[in-house]
Amino acid sequence: MLARATAATPWGIEALPVEIEVDVRFGLPQMQIVGLPDTAVRESRERVRAAVKNCGFDLPARAVVINLAPADLRKAGNHLDLAIALALLAAHEKIDGEHLAGRILCGELGLDGGIRPIRGGLAIADLGRRMESSEILLPAENAAEGAALDAVPVIAVASLPEAVEHLTARTVIEPARARPAEVLREPAAPDLSEVRGQETAKRALEVAAAGGHNLLFVGPPGSGKTMLARRLPGLLPPLSLAESVAVTKIHSLAGSRPPSGLIRTRPFRSPHTDTSTPGLVGGGSVPRPGEASLAHAGVLFLDELPEFRRDALEALRQPLEEGFVTVVRAQASLRFPARFSLLAAMNPCPCGHLGDERHECRCTPNMIQRYRARISGPLLDRIDLHVEVPAVRLDELKGPPGEATEAVAARVLAARERQLARFGKGAPLPVNAALSPTELERHCRLEEEAGKLLDRAFERLGLSARAMTRVLKVARTLADLAGKESIATAQIAEAIQYRALDRPVGG
Ligand SMILES: Nc1ncnc2c1ncn2[C@@H]1O[C@H](COP(=O)(O)OP(=O)(O)O)[C@@H](O)[C@H]1O
Ligand SMILES: [Mg+2]
Ligand SMILES: [Zn+2]
Repeated sequence: MLARATAATPWGIEALPVEIEVDVRFGLPQMQIVGLPDTAVRESRERVRAAVKNCGFDLPARAVVINLAPADLRKAGNHLDLAIALALLAAHEKIDGEHLAGRILCGELGLDGGIRPIRGGLAIADLGRRMESSEILLPAENAAEGAALDAVPVIAVASLPEAVEHLTARTVIEPARARPAEVLREPAAPDLSEVRGQETAKRALEVAAAGGHNLLFVGPPGSGKTMLARRLPGLLPPLSLAESVAVTKIHSLAGSRPPSGLIRTRPFRSPHTDTSTPGLVGGGSVPRPGEASLAHAGVLFLDELPEFRRDALEALRQPLEEGFVTVVRAQASLRFPARFSLLAAMNPCPCGHLGDERHECRCTPNMIQRYRARISGPLLDRIDLHVEVPAVRLDELKGPPGEATEAVAARVLAARERQLARFGKGAPLPVNAALSPTELERHCRLEEEAGKLLDRAFERLGLSARAMTRVLKVARTLADLAGKESIATAQIAEAIQYRALDRPVGG
């Protein structure tokens, strides 16, 4: 007897269908798997064999061939267990093969027949939507995540017998429901009002959020850089549904625990300085997304920037330029989305106290140069805003709370809407940070005095042409925040302030 079932395997952040054919005939009793089965899939055979037996299905000794198609697709073994087991039962006429048609069946089997969670539940649900499946069977732990898409009924199954009971309509299981939004609400993001003083740094966060600019904080330890950084996701506009789905797929693939529904808040990732290149941008034999992808649609915070491994920082160039990471494997290359706001922090010098009135800095200019030179030029080139964050004064710490996140986020949203209107809905990335040189010229109309100011600053500060471009983009965002089409001196003057690292050391 021949039986068929459909499972799915992760591919990038998506899931691809795997057709499983089980052929049972008289002959030498053995179970063979064909169709690029790697070790992981061969282990599946042992789990399936044990699970079927331990659930009390008595299968006669026959020759069994299991074919996995497409053959050239590397498959994650554990995703296929459930479908293989059910097709095996159908091929032995323990259940009617008709019950398997039109469904996607995914789950890892324990030896006792229990069904264990897998990665990428949301991507599988999305595949079911595209394939117009009638139903998807998923491990109980993945069901809420799959149901979040609200497209194809997702049935949570805890064991192989439960799956059989449901499919044969002996005990029908109701489709899982997405958890109500209240249950999903993640811990409230910290509020900007908690940061006392630091007006320039807070303003820089607002500008970064409004124009999609990357931002570097330079300041001594304890000045509140990390505290400020954590408040950036809350300033960004709410996630769109498409962004939410992409973020959930990425986290579902990478996380140790399946998400309990659609992720609705922007991610904040703060990888450690010794994170490896694959850790930062993704990789591995079964490719997993790295921190850059886990920060997709959110914030990647690189604290102590000069301490990061050089090769890892270099690897960030692709995501910073293209918004995705390419992971190349022998058979194919795949992409993980990785469009994030980069936020970095560093001390002004190796000891951290340069420019601090209360502590003496003993670093030589040479040491300071070397320390700063550790941040690679190409990375620095992608950072429009560098801002000094001085040690916070006591009277500031005791001062009244500042503006709340909500108020600043409203201005950010209005500025984003101006950009959207200007660049059009078709623009791949409708933010000022993504402006090309030609667009920059077209969209940045300088008032006369503003143009003169820019020229003078260019001469006097010795700004590079690159720095000039950054200043213009930021000035465009400042004008958008002010609700203005043309750029005035106030915007140019402010934008020039955000080039701390273009000034000579100690200047
Ligand atoms: N401007 C500030 N307003 C309120 N608290 C602050 C401020 N700056 C620092 N702190 C306090 O000091 C702690 C250390 O700040 P942190 O953000 O870790 O500094 P940094 O990252 O610059 O070393 C914070 O957790 C917070 O309690
Ligand atoms: Mg810190
Ligand atoms: Zn120092």
